[in-house]
Amino acid sequence: MMQFFDALTDDHRTFVARQPVFFVATAAADARINLSPKGMDSFRVLDANTVAYLDVGGSGNETHAHLAADGRITIMFCAFDRPALIFRIYGHGRAVLPQDAGWDALYAQFTPLPGTRQIFVIDIDEVQTSCGWGVPFMAFDRERRTLSKFHAGQSRDERLAEWADHTHSIDGLPIRVSTVAP
Ligand SMILES: Cc1cc2nc3c(=O)[nH]c(=O)nc-3n(C[C@H](O)[C@H](O)[C@H](O)COP(=O)(O)O)c2cc1C
Repeated sequence: MMQFFDALTDDHRTFVARQPVFFVATAAADARINLSPKGMDSFRVLDANTVAYLDVGGSGNETHAHLAADGRITIMFCAFDRPALIFRIYGHGRAVLPQDAGWDALYAQFTPLPGTRQIFVIDIDEVQTSCGWGVPFMAFDRERRTLSKFHAGQSRDERLAEWADHTHSIDGLPIRVSTVAP
């Protein structure tokens, strides 16, 4: 029932392109395990062994801190319609910030989102599919615009000041601050 793959197949790409939401989990020694929802057309397959997602600011920046300290990340998608499927990407990731080399080419892969803070690039170790037969049926209604509206109402300077203030994770791990707001 459970199957592992070394890289993404075309079917996997089709599946992830249809999902409105996914979840990312990261960890670091002596720190709380983080698990966050992601979505809003932020996920891209760069090639069969590499994926990326565009991160907008929120209350936390735990993924960044954990990837800098540890690097491991698991991304989970699950189907809320037919056919049932739970799809996990296991990999190692890194944050690319707007001031970093390579940002422009990477950012060009995405549709800009208000509040863009960084892009996470993940080198895939393994991909896993499992049945998903216990996941409930749910219909997609619409995107929640609250976060985007919040960011759209913030000036660049306000955003940069907020980021500059957030230099550590909730467990005290260092965060590299984005010094350019796209
Ligand atoms: C579906 C969805 C729900 C989200 N809910 C929240 C939220 O309730 N609070 C928040 O701060 N950020 C929320 N975000 C924003 C991101 O998860 C954001 O990147 C956040 O800072 C968490 O980052 P972290 O996982 O690196 O800590 C949401 C994003 C999406 C796509």
